[in-house]
Amino acid sequence: MPTLNIARTNMTGQSAASQEGMFDHNIVPGQLRTEDDSGLVATAMPSPRLSWQLLADRQSVEQIAYQLQVADDPLFEEKMLLSPVVESGSTSFAPWPWEPLRSRERRWWRVRVRTDIGWTKWSDASPIEGSLYSRCDWSARPVSPVSNAGLPERSAVHLLRREFEADKVISARLYITALGVYDMTVNGRPISADLLEPGWTDYRHRTLFSAYDVLPLLRQGRNCLAAQVSEGWWRGELGWLGQRGHYGDTTALLAQLELECQNGDRLIVATDGSWRGSCGALEFAELYDGVDVDRRREPAGWRVAGFDDHRWERVVELDLPAGLEQRSMPAVRVLEVREPVRAEWSGNLLKIDAGQNLAGMLRIRASGPRGASVKVRHAEVLDAQGALHTAPLRNARAADNYRLGGTGEEILEPMFTFHGFRFAEIACDTGVEISRVEVVWVGSDLDYSGRFECSDKSLNQLYANTVASQKCNFISLPTDCPQRDERLGWTGDIQVFAETACFNADSRSFLANWLKDLATEQRADGNVPSTVPNILHGHAFEYAGVGWGDAATLVPWVLYTIYGDLGVLGRQYSSMRAWVDYGVSRLDGDGVWAGDFHLGDWLDPGAPPDRPHEATTDRDFIATAYLSVSARRVAQAAAALGKCEDAIVYEALSDNVAAATWRRWNDVAVKTQAGCGIAIMFGIAPVSERAKVGRLLAELVDANQGRIATGFLGTPLVLPALSNTGQGAAAYRLLLNRACPGWVYQVDRGATTMWERWDAVGEDGSLHAGAMSTEEANSMISFNHYAYGAVSEWLYRTVAGLSPDPDYPGFGRIRFAPEPGGNLSWASASIITGYGTAAIRWDLAEHGLDVELVVPPAANATFFCPPGLALPGAKHVKELGSGRHMLQLRRI
Ligand code: BGC
Repeated sequence: MPTLNIARTNMTGQSAASQEGMFDHNIVPGQLRTEDDSGLVATAMPSPRLSWQLLADRQSVEQIAYQLQVADDPLFEEKMLLSPVVESGSTSFAPWPWEPLRSRERRWWRVRVRTDIGWTKWSDASPIEGSLYSRCDWSARPVSPVSNAGLPERSAVHLLRREFEADKVISARLYITALGVYDMTVNGRPISADLLEPGWTDYRHRTLFSAYDVLPLLRQGRNCLAAQVSEGWWRGELGWLGQRGHYGDTTALLAQLELECQNGDRLIVATDGSWRGSCGALEFAELYDGVDVDRRREPAGWRVAGFDDHRWERVVELDLPAGLEQRSMPAVRVLEVREPVRAEWSGNLLKIDAGQNLAGMLRIRASGPRGASVKVRHAEVLDAQGALHTAPLRNARAADNYRLGGTGEEILEPMFTFHGFRFAEIACDTGVEISRVEVVWVGSDLDYSGRFECSDKSLNQLYANTVASQKCNFISLPTDCPQRDERLGWTGDIQVFAETACFNADSRSFLANWLKDLATEQRADGNVPSTVPNILHGHAFEYAGVGWGDAATLVPWVLYTIYGDLGVLGRQYSSMRAWVDYGVSRLDGDGVWAGDFHLGDWLDPGAPPDRPHEATTDRDFIATAYLSVSARRVAQAAAALGKCEDAIVYEALSDNVAAATWRRWNDVAVKTQAGCGIAIMFGIAPVSERAKVGRLLAELVDANQGRIATGFLGTPLVLPALSNTGQGAAAYRLLLNRACPGWVYQVDRGATTMWERWDAVGEDGSLHAGAMSTEEANSMISFNHYAYGAVSEWLYRTVAGLSPDPDYPGFGRIRFAPEPGGNLSWASASIITGYGTAAIRWDLAEHGLDVELVVPPAANATFFCPPGLALPGAKHVKELGSGRHMLQLRRI
């Protein structure tokens, strides 16, 4: 637990508290934050919701009420405003109680809470600053060198620069984005560690910008802003059809530096016609293909003041991009730098094994003659001869080519790209020396604070693989894979993985950001494209049907249950409803959704390898069942948002559709693992038949020798369906099965990320060809797809036994319900919730089970005994307040 300084107590606060007589000196509110997770200097929302945690040194702390204060100074002396006392037990997402922040406005806020004992002191103060909230705030315009404008073809990365004078500056804010991806320096120093900015959004409607404090980078006198802008998602190649320029044919930089000087002067240095542009060392940089760099072409000193740019090109000014909005989620950054586990020379080739499949690049220290070449290729796996197996990359070149500047030791690291790889080969010209190679892992810098561990090493590796695949596929948006010519926001993949993602990491703002694009990309009739942002216009797979479209309803619901974020539910509500209404419009006279195209239980191992959508579970059954569960989520969302009429309508719809599904498919559904999983978990099988369907599912598992038989949609449902119907033993058999297909099978074959296909590596060690029947997608064999990693949700919820109580979203009440099984002798899990850390560990013991629990302050918990065990007094359920608890369970 972090230690917190006790805040100064404000006189107003003190008197208010003493009027009520009681103080609670043992509790300190801290960890103040807004719903903006960007880490930027300004706040994306003018009325951000506010959160805190309580630091407590006693058990059973309850928050009864809170009060907020805002002022113009950290001592709360100027323009101080006090909110009313709000009765609430929640420490997350308190509505902003005052006038919205104005653009650039700087204030301070703090909180105190009334616990079951009395008022705490005021927390430390936390600064809050308005961003640019209106288009009128922008005097800057996107600029591009004339020769770079209107270029449909790949071109060199362009450079842009501008010098300016600064005198006794006391504040400097840089608001910045690009059509493309950029890097920016002030006097040669990077403005941040953020990469691939501004990320990929539905640029037709939304363009994110960032706000940085660049005061420490400025100097008295002459200064220089210098940037590079590359294709990125804006103009670069996207998708397996080799199309470029999805958003425009001109890449450009939009930057506005606002300076405040000691004498009160305000100065704006904005991108406009006064900037100058050129090209440099980066001959090109593309997301899929990598970079070509010629170090000899880098103009010396162009990033600092005094460089002569009078021969550089003029720039053109473009219109402001659509929907300028400050980024509110963490940026892409370097997540980790590691040494390769193997680096071996073979002739002029240096062969690298990173020891981990990941997304990123190599950082190479090399020296050699001017113009000497160093070429780096990447692959996820090696073939039988030990060579890089690049077929799975399809048309992604995934290579970085350098020509040395010959200036001594040079650091070679690509910009504006990333590769999905574990293995690499560095081919060097004669005379090139390599002194060091590091492996750089990049991804959106989320707080990966979830933990799961148990006594079985294979399960620990499986869990680690699910986290690794999340890190590799959460790069600005949730993607399918990081290595081939896709890396698209496939809606179905995140639909099944969202809950695991939220257990593994604080994924709230990241997914909430993506959901905004989902809503803007939704068709007028409510249909949801299979990739968001949508670049598949007119393709047969542009609308992939249920399971994919249901990301619209199921992902917001996950964010609500895990984080208690009612705001995201409110914002997405019409999108959620529109998707369900679209489904309703597809129902036939029998009330079922039949005959439309759906990807269905994609990659079911029983489907023909080249036709993954021809799964063994009936697609129409899946479609109608999904409509029922999505309607249920809309009803629940409506109830949470106080839309009572909608709640009644969609609840009834869900029931009717479930009944129609069961009427039509009750015999078919129980023939496959996915069918049973859906029938149980989506409430399709009537309550009276659930246990029977559970038994049938366990029999199917046995008949398949404990092997999984599901694709993307069925996989997350099978284990919970078994454990929810008293078939825990079958669930553990399925989880721990070592034969193909199976989770542990992948681990036994050395997987360090989740594979796209269960049999990506055959039992004889051969690599799957990845066959697809459509020529355009001739191979589909990624070693880094997270869909099957949705199993981690069950590891947290059921193996360790940690989840939010569904009636108290956001872990206000924690549900501890471990189900020990298989060969496990202990398991543990922890999550940093909005209240603080929630954790569990259990150990098998002679007498039964020892359990240790941590409940964060202001939350509470219910502990449910696993079957066959009881608490003292023969109890099976125990209510717990916050704090640490040790329980001893005995066999009965
Ligand atoms: C992607 C998937 C996606 C699927 C649907 C694949 O190429 O990699 O993960 O969901 O297509 O068609």
